[in-house]
Amino acid sequence: MKVVKTVEELRQLLSEEKSKGKTVGFVPTMGALHRGHLSLVQRCKKECGAAVVSIFVNPTQFNDKGDLARYPRTLAADVQLLQTAGCDVAFAPSEAEVYPEPDTRVFDFGPLDRVMEGAHRPGHFNGVAQVVSRLLDVVQPNYAYFGEKDFQQLAVVSEMVRRLGLPVEIVRCPIVREADGLALSSRNALLTPEQRAAAPLIAKTLFAAVDMVCSVDLAALKKLVADAINASEQLKLEYFEVVCARTLQPVASLDDDCAKQACIAVHAGKVRLIDNVRLT
Ligand code: PAJ
Repeated sequence: MKVVKTVEELRQLLSEEKSKGKTVGFVPTMGALHRGHLSLVQRCKKECGAAVVSIFVNPTQFNDKGDLARYPRTLAADVQLLQTAGCDVAFAPSEAEVYPEPDTRVFDFGPLDRVMEGAHRPGHFNGVAQVVSRLLDVVQPNYAYFGEKDFQQLAVVSEMVRRLGLPVEIVRCPIVREADGLALSSRNALLTPEQRAAAPLIAKTLFAAVDMVCSVDLAALKKLVADAINASEQLKLEYFEVVCARTLQPVASLDDDCAKQACIAVHAGKVRLIDNVRLT
């Protein structure tokens, strides 16, 4: 595996790989890697001739500067993990490499980013689109891999790719969970032991929502979820939404016949955790 830090080095290396006729797969990450990230890398390697993984904590997508400062950074360990997962090229650029000039682009995703993460984290998805479009332009992959853990991000990135007409296929990958159900996240490392012990309640509550979907109405389901989460002293519900999985717009009723996704954001102290599950 090669570790490169500059756009120029990366372009050079990838043009060599592409000239050998290899397909290029790309997994963008912010590092602090765990089995969730590695599942994307392993799939990428299985499906592509060359697997490229970026590690870059993108400042433009953090609406909360405290969250940016706290975000875990573990580059040496990440590089070791990537080696074992079959990564061919790890790209760990500086901010100046990614943004030689401030990125002032404003993206329009239609209604997709006006709900849930988009509504609660102003500017977040614009920052995601800035960095992902920049990285896709540098790597020019055939395939790019994203996790359903960030369900709305997948929809926003797919819409960006469609609107810009980028020649890349977005590949959706399932959520990887701990044995107790907690969705793996780099932010889990920031939880206190008490918060970590409480956190599996998030997934447990989502799975209970799946079981209840035929027996209660939407208002009752929302109340049951809010009460279950807020019953823990360690957790505080930010939102729970049932949305159409394609448009991400909230459904008016659980009888709505679109494929439904239940999405949740919860605060454990200063740490913000998200999760989601297919309801139908
Ligand atoms: P990051 O949170 O590091 O996640 C990188 C990729 O790993 C994302 O596609 C995310 O959905 C996926 N992922 C994280 N946890 C996962 C889990 N438990 N199971 C499956 N996939 C998981 O998402 C970002 O970084 C950034 O927004 C980025 C796209 C890199 C742009 O900066």
